[in-house]
Amino acid sequence: MTTPNQIKSMKSKRKIVMLTAYDFPTAKLMDGVVDIILVGDSLGMVVLGYENTTKVTMDDMARATGAVARAAKNALVVGDLSIGTYDSQEDALKNAKILLEAGAQAVKIERKPETAEFLAKNEIQVMGHIGLTPQTITNFKVQGKNEEDAKRLLEEAIQMDKAGCFSLVLECIPMGLAEKITSSISIPTIGIGAGIHCDGQVLVTHDILGLFEAFKPKFVKRYAETGKEMRNAFEKYSEEVREGKFPTDEYSFH
Ligand code: KIV
Repeated sequence: MTTPNQIKSMKSKRKIVMLTAYDFPTAKLMDGVVDIILVGDSLGMVVLGYENTTKVTMDDMARATGAVARAAKNALVVGDLSIGTYDSQEDALKNAKILLEAGAQAVKIERKPETAEFLAKNEIQVMGHIGLTPQTITNFKVQGKNEEDAKRLLEEAIQMDKAGCFSLVLECIPMGLAEKITSSISIPTIGIGAGIHCDGQVLVTHDILGLFEAFKPKFVKRYAETGKEMRNAFEKYSEEVREGKFPTDEYSFH
């Protein structure tokens, strides 16, 4: 089982690979292939059909984390603390423990270095997340484009490092700024829409598989057209049932 410390020691040695999963079969297929499986609150959009992540609950996250953890024998499992579950430090600790009990080895939080520090002091492994943080940012644009924002993001990254995070997600920031942040902090950066210079990369699995068709951000590369494959299978099955071609003898009992 990959540990947060092993992830930390991969900085500058080899690229870290992270993907999201929210269910047992998907996690089983990616375990042993990727280093980290993130049970992200992107589940709200790609699994539960919400417009954004703001309706995701602790129950949603705990159930998905349990399913993923039952499949993951090699990858590090990180569970997202959903919106409103870490507004106070006490809540953060209580809810982090729920995800750990469900099987995660670490939790991810958006910004909030003081909370990250509190969790780390209570022996919870924390992955930070800065840049475009969907729980609080409503303008879904590249972050840190002007000098002032870039300075703030660099400062935030340094604070998350000092707080004791074992890694940091950088979402939707210019590649030059991501490079500067990566070389300025001691923990690995994991980029999504943050360019090639990060220590690792993450994408939402439904995006790379072509399973989420509502929109495709610029930074998403599709590695498969699973949505099209599924639709073909549904159409073929429906056609065969309607035409009385399924089930044949091969699929029947005598
Ligand atoms: O919820 C999620 O999937 C995430 C990734 C996009 C980093 O936070």
